[in-house]
Amino acid sequence: MPTKKKPTDLLIPPRGMHDILPKETPLWDKLIETTREIADFYNFSRIETPIAERVELFERGVGETTDIVEKEMYFLKTKGGDRLVLRPEMTAPVMRSYLQNGLHRLPQPQRLYYFGPAFRYERPQAGRYRQFHQFGFEIVGGDSDPVYDAEIIAASYRLIESLKIKPLIIEISSIGCRICRPGYRKKLIDYYRGKEICRDCARRLKTNPLRLLDCKKEACQPIKADAPSILDSLCSPCRSHLKQVLESLEEMGLPYTLNPLLVRGLDYYNRTVFEIFVQEEVVGLALASGGRYDYLAEMIGGRPTPGVGVAGGAERIIELMMARRDEIKLPKPRVKIFLVHIGDLAKKRSLALIEEFRRSNIGVISALGKNSLSEQLETANKVGSPLALILGQREVYEESIILRDMQTGVQESVPLKKVVEEVKKRLK
Ligand code: HAM
Repeated sequence: MPTKKKPTDLLIPPRGMHDILPKETPLWDKLIETTREIADFYNFSRIETPIAERVELFERGVGETTDIVEKEMYFLKTKGGDRLVLRPEMTAPVMRSYLQNGLHRLPQPQRLYYFGPAFRYERPQAGRYRQFHQFGFEIVGGDSDPVYDAEIIAASYRLIESLKIKPLIIEISSIGCRICRPGYRKKLIDYYRGKEICRDCARRLKTNPLRLLDCKKEACQPIKADAPSILDSLCSPCRSHLKQVLESLEEMGLPYTLNPLLVRGLDYYNRTVFEIFVQEEVVGLALASGGRYDYLAEMIGGRPTPGVGVAGGAERIIELMMARRDEIKLPKPRVKIFLVHIGDLAKKRSLALIEEFRRSNIGVISALGKNSLSEQLETANKVGSPLALILGQREVYEESIILRDMQTGVQESVPLKKVVEEVKKRLK
């Protein structure tokens, strides 16, 4: 017999998914606003794609032998029989949208940005969730100019840095192209063949040898450390591309370290790959990562279209922002007046008055659920309103209202008709 679930289980959200509570939302708003500002500064326009896409988009785009596609996708089967997945990332969807909507007919390259949720069925742990949010910048179309790679890195670096998260370090490498990567892959297979490696690595050796360099198992580390470096196998155009990206980073004063073991978990990359970390904190977890993906368009059935981009992990960044809450400038909440009512007639009249203030762009807090005067004034004090308006039965009959300065406690009666003007004057 199936065991009955305790009723409290209903109150727990799905594993790896979480609520964003009012005490955290100002930081989220700040991150979204900063993303928008940086995007505007670097000239990116916002794009939004659906939460769900066809399975094949990621199978072909991200790669069938990647962890994301093999183990981490959330499948949906619609009543009509479509096989969809909740998007595990946004680069393949953005490229799909670019190709489908004819964005290639607009001036090139297209500079696009996004912010939204993504889903991966991963083992939840600190900084790793099943529903998480990414901001991202993508430069799609045009040519593979290395300056775009540097701009993408700069935009994400400046975004994170402006949230007081520093010092940041950029790890960067190149994974070559169709010409030079097969040679490196062969070298890697030859090197690993016959070595004692973990089960995952044995599988990677057959399916996706570059991922051998991503193994975290202790036993495989010494083997990995001595593996041939991809940087020694780059063809001359790839080497020159990397050199120009690095020179541009130097030009912009962005610190980087070359990490030839960086391979990334998605198959669409070629040439530049990078990850951004904050030194010493959230060890090992990238705050943002990305790279160049010149073959992605073809992989999903489109015409050849170069691209380069980055995505940042909002939850990871928010966690670091929490610890720096005092340093981060959050927008000041709007000053609001407090409307106190006494009695049912005044309560009813309050509703219209609140609307009148709203039309004049003056924020009003009221405690329409509370009835006693002292309770309401106490709330006005707690929320820090500079002014309280008190509307009682007598005031309603006399078409007036009491205006109380919350700091001095001085009160005066004002005609209802003039109250909006009077409040405006005092809030100046
Ligand atoms: P990614 O490295 O898979 O790349 O993810 C980008 C960022 O999303 C990571 O650096 C991390 O901060 C965050 N992230 C990833 N998985 C999780 C998770 N389970 N929980 C919390 N945060 C997570 C991409 O998604 C590529 N689309 C990036 C890109 C854009 N490449 C080119 N353009």
